This record gives sequence, structure tokens and C-alpha cells, in this order.
Amino acid sequence: MKLVLATRNKDKITEIKALLQNLHIEIYTFDDFEYFPDVVEDQNTLEGNAEKKAREIYNITGMPAMADDTGLFVDALDGEPGVFSSRYAGEHVTYEDNRKKLLMEMRDIPADKREAFFKTVIVLILGDDKKFIVEGRCEGYIGVEEKGTLGFGYDSIFYLHDSGKSFAELTVEEKNRISHRGRALQKMKKVIEKLTK
Ligand code: IMP
Repeated sequence: MKLVLATRNKDKITEIKALLQNLHIEIYTFDDFEYFPDVVEDQNTLEGNAEKKAREIYNITGMPAMADDTGLFVDALDGEPGVFSSRYAGEHVTYEDNRKKLLMEMRDIPADKREAFFKTVIVLILGDDKKFIVEGRCEGYIGVEEKGTLGFGYDSIFYLHDSGKSFAELTVEEKNRISHRGRALQKMKKVIEKLTK
């Protein structure tokens, strides 16, 4: 089976390829196509955005396409930044801008009220009427400062309860084992395994 990853995010591609490496599939990315649009994420749910991205790339390439959409949901901020995680600090901002804004918004929130979770929804489009949807979650809390240099996005301010480590202190393999995307991908891996049997 051929599979196109409907994203331009190289960090995500690295994580996804690491997890799907043992499957009988050929993975294609934006690098393999002359035209590969940036799909506008204008839906108000993770599922809506993931499906929109996967469907658009499926329509253009004619190949099975998979997309994920992820949000960081902070309890004390009523679930913000949530579906708007990539543009929390505004349009065309950096990961760092978003992290700084979140730390600033949470500056007065005490240690025991900094709970947050990442949620990823992955949609696989196989045909006009054939799709699979899975989701994964990872619980943690927002630290008061950045820690670690690995990963991307909010990784350096998202801490795990068990170890007290931030996601940015974990290798790709360690993060994939427990992360929202890793968990969703494990589920999607089972779906693809069945499809390619
Ligand atoms: P996207 O819309 O799925 O690309 O994700 C929205 C935003 O969430 C991204 O811009 C990142 O800032 C953040 N994000 C997504 N996945 C992760 C992750 O695994 N770690 C940290 N931040 C992430």
C-alpha cells in the first residue's frame, strides 16, 4: 500500500515514519510531489481539520492519504489553545512565540492547577467513502519555564507527571511510546496492518 503523509511539518514526518517503519507500506511526503498545497486549517475541531487535510491531499494525489491534527488543551484556560494551538500567539508566529504566550497567560496559575493534555486525531482517507479515524491523548502539566532542547512546538513546556521530565527531554522513540501522536499512531498502525494483510 502507498501512503501519503498530508503534512509539511518535518518534525511530525520524523515521528510518524519512526512509528510506521515496520509496515508493508511505501510512505510518500510533500517532497515527492511537484504540487502539494498548504491546506488551510479553518475547521473548529481537530477531526475536521485532519479530515480536510487528508481529503485534499487524497484528491490531488489519488493515493491513500493520512493527516493528523493536534491541540494542547489547558484546564485552567478552559481548554485553550486547543484547536488553535498553532496560531495561539497570532498568524505566522513561531513555536517560541506560542510557548511564550502560554507561559505568560499562565503566570499566576499555581503549580497544582496547571493540568493539560495533548490530543491528536488522525484521519486516513482511502477512497471517496472510505475513511478511518483514531485519536490519542497524553496527560501532563504546563511547567513554569522551558526545559529540554529536543522535540518541537510546546514540548519544552509540557511536563509529564511521572518523571517530571518535559517532552523536550525525550528522544523521538521515548516520546512516541507515550505521546498523543504516538498513541493515535499505534491505533492507526493496527488499522493499516489489517488493510495490508
Ligand atoms: P497541528 O495543527 O497538528 O500542526 O498542531 C498544532 C500545534 O500544536 C503545532 O503548531 C505545535 O505547536 C503543537 N504541537 C503539535 N504536536 C505537538 C507535539 O507533539 N509536541 C508539542 N507541540 C505540538
